[in-house]
Amino acid sequence: MSTTSRPVIQIDSLSFKYPDGTVALRDVSFRVNEGECVGVVGPNGAGKSTLLFHLNGLLRGRGSVVVDGLEVSEQTLKAIRKRVGIVFQDPDDQLFSATVADDIAFGPLSMRLPRDEVDARVGQALKEAGLDGQGGKAPHHLSFGQKKKAALAAILAMRPKIIALDEPTSNMDPRSRRAFLRLIESLDATKVISTHDIDSVLDLCGRVLLLDSGELIADGEARAILGDRRLMESHGLEVPSMLRS
Ligand SMILES: Nc1ncnc2c1ncn2[C@@H]1O[C@H](COP(=O)(O)OP(=O)(O)O)[C@@H](O)[C@H]1O
Ligand SMILES: [Mg+2]
Repeated sequence: MSTTSRPVIQIDSLSFKYPDGTVALRDVSFRVNEGECVGVVGPNGAGKSTLLFHLNGLLRGRGSVVVDGLEVSEQTLKAIRKRVGIVFQDPDDQLFSATVADDIAFGPLSMRLPRDEVDARVGQALKEAGLDGQGGKAPHHLSFGQKKKAALAAILAMRPKIIALDEPTSNMDPRSRRAFLRLIESLDATKVISTHDIDSVLDLCGRVLLLDSGELIADGEARAILGDRRLMESHGLEVPSMLRS
């Protein structure tokens, strides 16, 4: 999908503190345009997951988060969750039903769609995620790579405009990783991807946000940021092999 200049995510002066007092986001502001793929990188504990969880109101901080023109608040939560799907790092956090098909149906059913529409969406999501014929399986009988696909399918069935993926390639073997990356690439939605897998960001995203200690350190063109050795190393990261000279 081509990018337009319409922002679908607008975050202004977002700060967040966990109940134990840990400050996880400090005055973060950025915009994401429709159709963009934005990588969020940073060392462990930088605030990447915390930031993603603000996109659909799973966490709510100080400042403002506006998605598709709607400010995240108690009143808009339902509408926001139709628009933004988050694929968790651990697929076991997302799969809890007896079968894969039930897990995928869960979102569309909670949107109160009619049963035939739900079934059609389950079928299509299975297909899009490369899980054709696997709908009747128990999630705990799937391989890790298949679980990741099932978790993504559960999000796709809600047809969100924005998909946030938290560490999508962590713990994957090289073949599953490549397959999952191609799958992510094929999605039309606006994407925000937090990851340690810097090569995958380079592959998928034109733009990168660099977070450290809850602060947005850099926001710009992926190659410029990921190829900046001083910047990357001063935040505990490495320049991807493709950009090393
Ligand atoms: N539930 C929680 N309670 C308290 N502190 C937390 C919680 N979750 C994360 N943190 C802290 O918030 C900061 C940001 O964490 P996180 O968003 O998970 O970072 P990242 O995803 O970049 O590794 C870290 O200091 C982490 O220890
Ligand atoms: Mg994280």
